[in-house]
Order: sequence, then structure tokens, then C-alpha cells
Amino acid sequence: MAEGSKLLVVARDLQRSFAFAGQKVGALASASFEIASTDRIALAGPSGSGKSTLLALIAGLDKPDVGTIAWPGLPGRSSQPVGLASSDIALAFQAPSLIPSLTVIANAALPHMLRGGGAGEAEERAAAALSLFRVQDLADKLPEEISGGQAQRVVLARCIVARPDLILADEPTSQLDHLNGMAAIEALLGWTADNKCAVVIATHDVEVARRLDRTWTIYHGLLDTVGPLGHVPSAQGGAERETALGNGHAVGRVA
Ligand SMILES: Nc1ncnc2c1ncn2[C@@H]1O[C@H](COP(=O)(O)OP(=O)(O)O)[C@@H](O)[C@H]1O
Ligand SMILES: [Mg+2]
Repeated sequence: MAEGSKLLVVARDLQRSFAFAGQKVGALASASFEIASTDRIALAGPSGSGKSTLLALIAGLDKPDVGTIAWPGLPGRSSQPVGLASSDIALAFQAPSLIPSLTVIANAALPHMLRGGGAGEAEERAAAALSLFRVQDLADKLPEEISGGQAQRVVLARCIVARPDLILADEPTSQLDHLNGMAAIEALLGWTADNKCAVVIATHDVEVARRLDRTWTIYHGLLDTVGPLGHVPSAQGGAERETALGNGHAVGRVA
């Protein structure tokens, strides 16, 4: 752990499966890890490998079937359900998550309002956050009036409004073109550095992974926190090795 950083999350041997159509679907087979307050982690792996399942467990939105997870550096996390009102972890969901009946700025302001912040201050914070992600011109629009990529930037803005200690972003640039996606990542990383916030970003984009300090790789629910990108934690074939970022695209080493 880097000097001056504190341990936020510790997890050991997490497993999670789901019942689906009478079958047991293994989503996470094995995950042990720690997240410190200065960490900037890319979570890479093909679709269906368990990235969203893992982020939901880290957020405390879901519970593991087996294993333990604790949030030593995030007071209240163990006892409180996570939500927009929580200040210590912010999650940018993979699925659309803006509230349809609220304007963009009201959506962005919500985490501060839900924590009991004043409307004026919430709006000020939301406006600054929207500017950071270059979507300030959309402030008065409804979610249905903006594109998927714009909505992703609004969600990132919403993430920072409550000034969390840890941001979990689930494929946050998947609907943005490369340049705008990288600009959003740069804005997010600038903010997290200035505000001593840790970040875990699930991504298929090798350029995004390269901007972070570490890459975790997940394959068939097996998390590898130490190998170089593309390392397969079990005896998988070479072809799979090339799909660490999904879609069959060969990728270079990032670590
Ligand atoms: N609520 C659920 N019910 C049934 N199966 C699920 C559920 N959530 C995830 N899964 C399954 O678990 C596996 C991992 O899913 P997920 O974590 O969404 O992967 P990723 O985010 O890497 O695409 C997939 O096979 C998926 O179909
Ligand atoms: Mg996912």
C-alpha cells in the first residue's frame, strides 16, 4: 500500500452464483483483494466474466454466498445499505440509472440532497460536476432528451457530487466515442486525484486500462489481481488469453 493511503475494502474468497431458469449460474468463483484509498484499478474481462457482480459486492449492494468482505476505511459501509444517499462509495451502474422525471441537474444534485444537503449547495455542486464532464449545457434537459453517451457523463458527474472515498464505474464510457470517452476518464481521474478518492473502472477499452495504475483481470468468475493483463488465472487456452478486454480483440500488455 502506498504511503499515506488507508485500506478501504478487504475481501477474501468471494463467491456468488444466481439461480436462473432452474439452473445455478456461477457469476463469481473466486475473488480476494484489497482496495486502498490511493488505488486506481482497471477491471478487465470479457462480457459475462463477473465484473458487474464483483462491483455490486464491493458496493455492498449484493452479498456473497461464500467469503467475507469488509470496509475498514469506509465508516458505516457495513451497517448501511448503499444508495445515492451514501457518501463513501459511488457506483456508476452499467445500465441507465438516471431518474426519468428529473432534469439532468436535479439527477446530478440528488446524492447531496439525499444526504440532507441544502438545495442551493446541491445545485452548485451538480453544476460544477456537470461542467467537469462537459455536459453543463444539458442541465435542464430530461434523461430521455440526451444520448446514452451524454447520460454516462451525467452519471459520472452524479458520482462525484457526494464526494465519495471510492468510485466504482461499470463500463462508464461504453457509449462514448474514444476521444470523448478518454476525456471523461481524464476528468474523473483528475477529480479522484484532487479529492483522494479511489477508483475501480470496469472497462473493455485498453486505453482506459492503460491510464490506471493497476489492472485486475477476471475470467469465468476468477479474479486475478496480480498477473499482467491477459494472464489467465487457470489453464485456459491462448485464444482466450487474447480476449482479456472482450470482443475477441487482441490487446497488448498493460501492466
Ligand atoms: N441476477 C442474475 N441472475 C442470473 N444470472 C446472473 C445475474 N447477474 C449475473 N448473472 C450471470 O453471471 C455471470 C456474470 O455476469 P456479470 O457480472 O454481469 O458479468 P460482466 O459484468 O463481466 O459482463 C453471467 O453469466 C451472467 O449471466
Ligand atoms: Mg457488466
